[in-house]
Amino acid sequence: MKISSSSKIRGQIVPPPDKSISHRMLLFSSISTGKCTVHNLLRSEDTLRTMNFIKSIGAFVKDEGERIVIIPPVKLQEPSFPIDCGNSGTTSRIGMGLLARENFFSVLYGDESLSKRPMKRVVKPLSALGAKFDGRNNASNLPLSIRGGNLHSTRYVSELSSAQVKSAFIFAALSAEGESIYVENVQSRDHTEKFLSQFDLIKKDGNELKIIPGDIPAFTFEVVGDFSSAAFFLVLSIIHSNARLKINRVGLNPTRTGLLKVLKRMGGNIEIEKEEGVEPVGNIVAESSELKGTEVLPEEIPSMVDEVPLIALLGAFAEGETVVHGASELRKKESDRIEATVNILKKMGANIEGLEDGFRVRGKTPLHGAKVKSFGDHRMAMLASIAGVCSDGVEIEDAECVSISYPAFFSDLKGVME
Ligand code: S3P
Repeated sequence: MKISSSSKIRGQIVPPPDKSISHRMLLFSSISTGKCTVHNLLRSEDTLRTMNFIKSIGAFVKDEGERIVIIPPVKLQEPSFPIDCGNSGTTSRIGMGLLARENFFSVLYGDESLSKRPMKRVVKPLSALGAKFDGRNNASNLPLSIRGGNLHSTRYVSELSSAQVKSAFIFAALSAEGESIYVENVQSRDHTEKFLSQFDLIKKDGNELKIIPGDIPAFTFEVVGDFSSAAFFLVLSIIHSNARLKINRVGLNPTRTGLLKVLKRMGGNIEIEKEEGVEPVGNIVAESSELKGTEVLPEEIPSMVDEVPLIALLGAFAEGETVVHGASELRKKESDRIEATVNILKKMGANIEGLEDGFRVRGKTPLHGAKVKSFGDHRMAMLASIAGVCSDGVEIEDAECVSISYPAFFSDLKGVME
């Protein structure tokens, strides 16, 4: 994929539906008590994996275009075949929590990247509830088999701030014989809790979540736009020297929007209009800005975990030093995102150094064209594209992986380049 530079960025973006929320709506509907309707569900490679996942345990899914109707089975069925989770960490990890509810046998597998990603983080809390696992490297990696059912309540203190791990626990604990507690020291995204607290199935008290076993009633839900996808356009409009963009109907859940705080302290010109709801939503207007470097602290990372690579790009366009610490989780994503970010931006002329748990960038340095790899990682392909538009173009190998989360990314990008 060849991306050219652009002298002017103008227009509006309606970001694709939120990936995290879309996965959850499919999974919730498969264990609800009746017919569910989801409006504005993301259709991307990852969420189609979750759609197949719920079909293979007996859900009926009808895609009607503007909305999707899901009819859950009366009782989840044992899948006849191993379930392919592709590249999707969320399908496999939260999916394990769902499968742990049932006393049947199931097997999950994934692509090369997913097969390398750590699964013990989910196996441990689900085993504490009573589920049984087997798999590669002593049940640390896919393929994994699961046999669950007859779960007992427990109190689990997590060593990680991970919404996938927390959600897997919650899905399973909803079917346990009594109330369970999940403790997370730094808050990760809370889409699962927000949804379930509508039905009094979960209560939050400080950093403790109490999960009250029960059924999810039939529901209708509209998915907001994905902040993590919108973030590429947000950063584009801020670092480009002649830009102004409006981003419409984007999710503004504070557990996701840490990047906005970083942008503000770097000097980003942003205006936000926000509406409250189960999931807050709003519009953002952003334009070319004079940036200064910043330090991002470990406790800020969970609220911007998928946006951290964009901070490196911002750092290259900012006066002074930008440092990120406490982001070692980035090494365990679809690619090693610390290594990939440093590799891509260095090739394009940035003064960037990788750290064990983050990176250090010294700006401003003018970026130049280069041929870079996406490392098969959708967010790395989009990062390189934005860097290319703001320099003198870029050539990206294996860029089609954007379809994991944002199938229309390249056409949306073309649409704002004048
Ligand atoms: C996600 C949580 C995050 C994020 C991933 C999606 C989710 O992972 O990086 O893209 O939907 O819960 P962790 O929970 O492992 O940090």
